[in-house]
Amino acid sequence: MVTVTFDKVRKEFGTMVALPGLDLAIGSGEFVSLLGPSGCGKTTTLRMLAGLEQPTSGRILIGDRPVNNLAPGERDIAMVFQSYALYPHMTVAQNIAYPLRKRGVPKAERPARVKAVADLLQLGPLLERKPRQLSGGQQQRVALGRALVREPKVFLLDEPLSNLDAQLRAHMRAELIELHRRLGKTMVYVTHDQLEAMTMSTRIAVMRGGELQQFATPAEIYHRPANAFVAGFIGTPAMTLADGEIAAGQGRAMLKLGTLQMELPPDHLSQAPTGVLPVTVGVRPEDVVLGAGDGQASIRVVEPTGHESIVLANAGDVVFTVRVPGDSPLRPGDTVPFDLRRERLHIFERASGRRLNADRDLASGPARLSVTV
Ligand SMILES: Nc1ncnc2c1ncn2[C@@H]1O[C@H](COP(=O)(O)OP(=O)(O)O)[C@@H](O)[C@H]1O
Ligand SMILES: [Mg+2]
Repeated sequence: MVTVTFDKVRKEFGTMVALPGLDLAIGSGEFVSLLGPSGCGKTTTLRMLAGLEQPTSGRILIGDRPVNNLAPGERDIAMVFQSYALYPHMTVAQNIAYPLRKRGVPKAERPARVKAVADLLQLGPLLERKPRQLSGGQQQRVALGRALVREPKVFLLDEPLSNLDAQLRAHMRAELIELHRRLGKTMVYVTHDQLEAMTMSTRIAVMRGGELQQFATPAEIYHRPANAFVAGFIGTPAMTLADGEIAAGQGRAMLKLGTLQMELPPDHLSQAPTGVLPVTVGVRPEDVVLGAGDGQASIRVVEPTGHESIVLANAGDVVFTVRVPGDSPLRPGDTVPFDLRRERLHIFERASGRRLNADRDLASGPARLSVTV
């Protein structure tokens, strides 16, 4: 078990700054996802950790050992890529044994280590097959096996599931969670898929344009996004983000959201605002109330997904995304009473995107569906 530390790591490609200065401390045995849109620097971060790319400046440590000057083979890591090229002419057993052969592990030791890994990944019955005789998921498991067999201290995975179909991805997610639990090794996982990051990670590092936006547990990132970018990036369907204003006075804070007006609960913000403050307001789909409240919403779209439906509802001049139970009788064109769960509103400074909420709201527990129509 071992920690991984990025200490002011900067990476330039020519005149292009991919990472201006990354600070990230990954705990021993964690499963950390680097999550962000394409081009935000996830792969570059992982490749520097692997030793395939040199930082322009800053230090990378594995455990308490600086590894900047160590070759990839000296770092005690194993990496699984999105394109997991297996050797087509070798059997599964030979593919898994290959890293051992390459590293000069004595021949007599190899079968036992291959078998242990094959058992772990349920590849036992497939050991004599060639890659072309395997399904995509089985091939991915062999690629994992080839990384595992070396018993590295840290596993690096770069979008390893993105070539798989949706059903298989869900299955492999569960397998990776299980694998991490059993091995207890530090894993760094790159993905642009927030569902993968949310389901598997102990903590998620959300990145944008080479900058770390937030590094926290999935629950914290969901319930307390550090800024408007994280708020909009995490959650399916995405939360509604709308421009508004907070007008403060006499110890009260009135939120104006287009034509909607409401008083914010006392202590909702970390600092009492003064005057009029332009904000961006974030509302999760489960935090809109349809069927109760003083406001009024008109239903525009109802998208059934089975156990729930996603509704687009106009209130004032804002279009809210709302989660309702699948058996809700709401239909497009309906007009219904409307409210927001004010204690759960996310408030961001409009100019900077910075979160303004007081940090007590995580304790308010998981969101409940609150529709009474
Ligand atoms: N070898 C390279 N040469 C020049 N630019 C690169 C190189 N590798 C990555 N980049 C650039 O660095 C940025 C981050 O890339 P990358 O780490 O691959 O992003 P991600 O994995 O998050 O999609 C992108 O703008 C990309 O174009
Ligand atoms: Mg990438």
